[in-house]
This record gives sequence, C-alpha cells and structure tokens, in this order.
Amino acid sequence: MAPVDPHSYTESTHPLTTNISLSLYFDFSTSTIHAAALLSLPTPHSGDLSLDTRSLTIRQVLDPQTLAPIQFSLSSDTDPIKGCLLTVSLSDQSSLLLVFSTSPDSSALQWLSPPQTFNKTHPFVYTQCQSIHARSVFPCQDTPAARVCYKALINIPHQLSAVMAAQHVDRRPPIAGETKMIGGESFDFDYESLWCTEGRIVEEFEMNQPVPPYLFAFAVGELGSREVGPRTKVYAESVPAVLDAAAQEFAGTEELIRQGERLFGEYDWERFDLLVLPPSFPYGGMENPRMVFLTPTVIKGDASGAQVVAHELAHSWTGNLITNKNNEHFWLNEGFTTYAERRIVEVVQGEDRAGLNIGIGWRGLNEEMERFKDNMEFTKLKTNQEGVDPDAVYSEVPYEKGFQFLWRIERQIGRPAFDEFLKKYIATFKFKSIDTETFLDFLKTNVPGIEKQVDLELWTEGIGIPPDAYEPVSNIYTKIVSLANEFKLGKIPREEEVADWQGQEWELYLENLPKSVEASQVVALDARYRLAESKDYEVKVAFLQLAISCNCRDYYGEVEKTLKEVGRMKYLRPLYRALVQGTGKDEEKILAKRVFGEARDCYHPIARGVVESIFAKHL
Ligand code: BES
Ligand code: ZN
Repeated sequence: MAPVDPHSYTESTHPLTTNISLSLYFDFSTSTIHAAALLSLPTPHSGDLSLDTRSLTIRQVLDPQTLAPIQFSLSSDTDPIKGCLLTVSLSDQSSLLLVFSTSPDSSALQWLSPPQTFNKTHPFVYTQCQSIHARSVFPCQDTPAARVCYKALINIPHQLSAVMAAQHVDRRPPIAGETKMIGGESFDFDYESLWCTEGRIVEEFEMNQPVPPYLFAFAVGELGSREVGPRTKVYAESVPAVLDAAAQEFAGTEELIRQGERLFGEYDWERFDLLVLPPSFPYGGMENPRMVFLTPTVIKGDASGAQVVAHELAHSWTGNLITNKNNEHFWLNEGFTTYAERRIVEVVQGEDRAGLNIGIGWRGLNEEMERFKDNMEFTKLKTNQEGVDPDAVYSEVPYEKGFQFLWRIERQIGRPAFDEFLKKYIATFKFKSIDTETFLDFLKTNVPGIEKQVDLELWTEGIGIPPDAYEPVSNIYTKIVSLANEFKLGKIPREEEVADWQGQEWELYLENLPKSVEASQVVALDARYRLAESKDYEVKVAFLQLAISCNCRDYYGEVEKTLKEVGRMKYLRPLYRALVQGTGKDEEKILAKRVFGEARDCYHPIARGVVESIFAKHL
C-alpha cells in the first residue's frame, strides 16, 4: 500500500473522508478538549482505515448507527514528524465515530491563561494547523490530498465566544442529548452532564465547501469585532484600542478583494473576515478560509498590513481553491500566492511598493541559498520531504523562487496572456489538490512551446537560482541597495535621503548591509535613526540581527525583550539563529538558552519546536 503523502499515514487504497462532524467541549482548567468526531466516507469500506493523530487520547471508536464498538489500535511509538497511526477496522461501514481528548501539548493548539491575554480576565485558545497539525486536534487523514466539509459544535463558558474558518450558524445554550447522536454517551465520564453544565454556551459552525484539513481553524476567547467592509469584520480580543487600530489598518480590505476578483475570478468564500491574534501567533498571517488569522505585529499604520492581508486573501484562490497535493509541492500554494499578492499590491499601492517587496524577496531568496548551502534539496521548488519536518525546512524558497518562476513566464508570454492563463488555471482546478506535474502539463497545453523558451525542468527540479531569475529594477530599489553598499565605506545615509522611508525601505536597506561591519558603525547608525527601538518589528529585528552578527552587545537587552514579547517565527528564527550559529559565541549561546527557557511558555507549540530544532542544529 502506498502512502499519498510523506507526512501522513493516509493510504492510497483507502477511501478519503468527505465529511466530519465534530463536538468539542473546551476545558480551560486542564487545557484539554473532550471531543467526538463523526467521519463519513464516500462509500462503505471493509478492512483497515489509517488515520493520523498526534497527542490524542482515543477513548472509543463506534459505529454511529448501532453504537457498537469498532476495533482500533493506536501505534505505540510516535513518529517525531507524523505522530501516531490510528488504525480502525471497518466492515462494510461508511462512517465511524471517534471519541477522544486532546492533550495540553497538542501541537496545533495554543492555550493562553488569563494573565497571558491583553485583558487578563479570560483564557484564550487558538489553532494553527498548517502544515501537519490538524491531527493534534482530531483524528483525520491529515493530507491536503483529502478535502472535507465539516460541522462543529463548540461548547465553551458563556463569557467567551468562538470564531471559526467556517460559517457561523448559531450561538445558543447546550441541548441535552445533542451529543448523543455523535457519541456523547460513550465517554467514560458523564459527558452528557458536562456538556450541559450551567454557564456553558454552544457555538455552531458549518463549512460546506471542501477544504484540506490544514485549513481547519478556530479561536475562543473574549472576542470583539468591528465592521470594516461589506464582507469583512475584524475580530480581536475585546480591547477597544486594539479593535480600533485594527479597523483602521484594514479599512482598505474591500478594495483588495475587488482587485483580487478582477485578476483571478469571483471570490468564492462569501465572507472575508480577519482575526487579529495575541502576539504569540507564530505566523504573519494564515489563510484560514472566511477568517484569516493575523499577527498583531502587522498593525503599524503603514503599507505592510495591507500587504499581509493581500497575501492571505490571494490564497483564497491559490492555496484554498487550488491546493498543493502534499507539502513537496508547497510552492504551488506560496509561489502563486506571492505572485498574486504582488499583483494586488501593485494596483493598490503602486509599482514602486510592489517593486520594493520583490526586492526584499530577492534578498531573502539569496540568503536562503546560503542557509541551505549544505542541503541544496531545499533550494528546489519541488522538494523531496520523505522524513522531513515541514516546519524545520520552512523557508522563503517556495515563496520567492516560485514567484520568480511565474514572473519569468509572465515576461515570456506577456501580461495579458499570463493573466488569461491564470484565470483558466484557477477555474480548471478549483477545489482540487494538485502537484507540480499537473501544473506543468496544464502550462504546456495552454502555452504551446513554453518549454522551449523557459527551462521548466531547471526551474522546478533544479537547485539554486536559475540564471534567468530577475532582480527588480526601480529607482527606489536601486537607490537603497547602493546606499547599503556604501555603508562598507563608512557612509551612513543622510536624513534627507531617508526622509520618506517607511518600514519596508529600512528593511531592504538593513538586509542589504554587509554581514560583518564594525560594532561602532552599527551603534552610529542606531544613534542616528533609533532602529533598535522601532515599533516596526521588521526593522527592529533586521537591525538586531545585524547587531548580533557584529557581536554588538549593547543591544542584547533589546534582543531579549523582543524574544519575550512576540512569538512570530519570522522574528524568532533569525534572532535565535544569529545568537547560536557560529563558533566562539558562548555568551550568545547562554543568552539564547536562558531567554528561551523563560519565554518558552509564551510561544505557540510550533514555535517552541522550531526554536528547539535551531538549538539542536547549532548547540
Ligand atoms: N500559509 C502561510 C503560513 C504558513 C506556512 C503556515 C506554512 C504554516 C506552514 C501564510 O500564507 C504565509 O505565507 N504567511 C506569511 C505572510 C507573508 C508572506 C505576507 C507569514 O506568516 O510571514
Ligand atoms: Zn502564504
């Protein structure tokens, strides 16, 4: 039997689940969800069915019609990447009911105690399932090759509310007996009375469009919202100042959606709401359908908030409609989305800003070549991920090399033809999960002769950056890069040269500075422009990274503070890496370990794992 995905136990000969019905009882006192999941298959199946799980206690597996037990076994050893294999033995059954509990260290879930929230009165919990963490919330075929519709009943204390990447159906008191049909009776404790405890409320959701499991998402807490457009509300912890700032930052969202529709076809998901998470959210944004999740660090009153929203919005077409079949083809999600994001940014913010983003990406892509110089597999677009943890090899390559590839094709055939091609590609493969070959076949069929003009194999299977990749040309980009090069000669930009710089200009400048410069020069730059204290984390982190690589200890206090106040991995990774990589950095290594020890509990489990893998590599 062949697996369909190197990161999943799903077997190619087994039917793929089409519908899941979940009831989730949130116990904040133990950071546990007690749950039942009804999985439906398209046809009756006899024999084994393999499911992915991680950190789950499986209590029972039942036939939902008869409530007769179904035999199951949970592998005794846990694969560090895939988790535990749950095998259930079916006999001509097309549905099964799983009764289970999550554990406090389920990797998708971050539980925040009241003191860890802004208002400090109520707890908060949220998911991050991409790439392979949905299995730590419920047993499933956790591969994007599978697409499911789902329903969820979320049972929480009435002071809290829930949001999901799904349609909200109802908020109402628990109903006695409603869990029976989905297995409530069969818990080994009195689940029924737990479900109906005084002071609980049930939020009901439905996702009627088939989505890959990594797009399953919820958040529960003391939430508030503001309306910012005809199909957009912004949600966040109920703090008026946070909600107001978010509403202002994202006021232009409807315009982004309209531009997206013009370029890629109708927006298919009805709502496009935004959820601003606590600072520990491990990503900049996550494209959960109908409800994008965002880090609060994007709220800073400049163009970059809209850029992240444009990116997550673009996933509505590339990623959520057309999905990579498994993580080896992740560039199909992120490369297309980065291309689409920049097309939207170009219309809304102008060519200069889009060019600046391309330039920042180009710099990032070149740095990744350095990072992977001993492991060139991960400089490819299509990668072999057998035995590889997607979180450990997450990089800008699928984003920026993917972008470069599509940009190359656009240059070859011209924008109008490429736009038409993109629309057709989306219309053809929507609600499907595809691989690189499927894309290339479609490209060759629809753009005859393209393989003679662009080396498609080199782009998708080759290592490094192909010679026909392109550094952006624009006045502002060229100016910033040459100012950065002059830093070597001791030149710090003059006030009038940087007068209209926003965060992204500084980011590009700092990232293009030579890696080893005199500590005194770093201090001089900061004395003039106060970069270490910037409210913009992109700028602050780029500066602190430079300071660490120049052993400029004056800034270690600020490094520690930063590592303790945000959990976005885009900032944690370079700072921890700069501290621990290289020889003769004992003081930095001790600092990194101490800070991680103190900050660990505030990080999302995925971020904890990523920092630990950086330590494992360098310490
Ligand atoms: N889908 C990604 C986030 C992700 C990738 C989560 C892989 C888990 C595994 C999201 O769309 C993304 O790319 N976010 C970026 C935003 C940026 C490119 C504008 C981020 O978080 O930095
Ligand atoms: Zn993305």
